[in-house]
Amino acid sequence: MKRDILSILDLTAQELAAIIGDAEDLKKMRKQGDAHPFLEHKTLGMIFEKASTRTRISFEVGMFELGGHALFLNPSDLQLGRGEEMRDTARVLSRYLSGIMIRAYRHQTIEELARHATVPVINGLSDIEHPCQILADILTMQEYFGDVSDLTVAWVGDGNNVCNSLILSSARTGFSVRVATPDNYAPPGSVLSRAKAAGSRVAICPTPEGAAADADVIYTDTWVSMGNEQEHDERIRAFAGYTVDEALLDEASPDAIVMHCLPAHRGNEISDGVIEGRKSVVWDQAENRLHAQKALLVRLLKK
Ligand code: CP
Ligand code: NVA
Repeated sequence: MKRDILSILDLTAQELAAIIGDAEDLKKMRKQGDAHPFLEHKTLGMIFEKASTRTRISFEVGMFELGGHALFLNPSDLQLGRGEEMRDTARVLSRYLSGIMIRAYRHQTIEELARHATVPVINGLSDIEHPCQILADILTMQEYFGDVSDLTVAWVGDGNNVCNSLILSSARTGFSVRVATPDNYAPPGSVLSRAKAAGSRVAICPTPEGAAADADVIYTDTWVSMGNEQEHDERIRAFAGYTVDEALLDEASPDAIVMHCLPAHRGNEISDGVIEGRKSVVWDQAENRLHAQKALLVRLLKK
């Protein structure tokens, strides 16, 4: 049966651990220059409704390095952009491709694609989740700390897609997540209840300092996600006081690392000093998108 990864919860704890282990192996092979053509003759269609640097390039390079091929599909160049239905697109693409990755504004669009596709569908970011980002983040935390299960991860900023997948991933990794957001920007109640039902350890904190206190990881993301551009000024006002800066970092554990899924906006959600500082692991996170997604692709597409 085909496997879709629409949510980080679509992976069991064992599968997640195996993917992270495979990602470490693939990273080593790549560094040593060893070929690893595990997906020869496989093809991945990549539908992007929104912009992307990391997701697009890491998936495309990943498929190439695995011996397969990736196709970048802009909906406005497909008949999808002229009104062809997603369910018809799903059925037709499934006749050509081994798998489909999609970045969409609405999570329901991805669910509709997955419902009608007969090949695996991967969520490359929706309004609700960003599971591929969190795979790379878990790999990054494991590289820095070894076992991640005892970590405390503080999320400071917008309770958005990346935050949601992080909270949900606690049910699979065991780490605890503390979330500090301005009023009205908390993660959706539906995500919090799914997380709690799945066994996540999550606490909502009233202040960034409360979330950051003795934390092992401080994680943030843009205050203005793709699709929120019209709320830009209102958001910048609402998020005042939520910058991950040197003072906030002082509240965290002395060995803490700082994470950001990127793209970053220095002076808003993160200070220039912190993102450029020695505790920042953001470039490793970005690189690890490649290794973690290659491991995921092998698991989903290799027969
Ligand atoms: N973090 C992330 O998904 O980056 P892109 O938007 O560049 O793909
Ligand atoms: N929350 C951001 C993540 C970008 C990778 C957005 O949705 O734009």
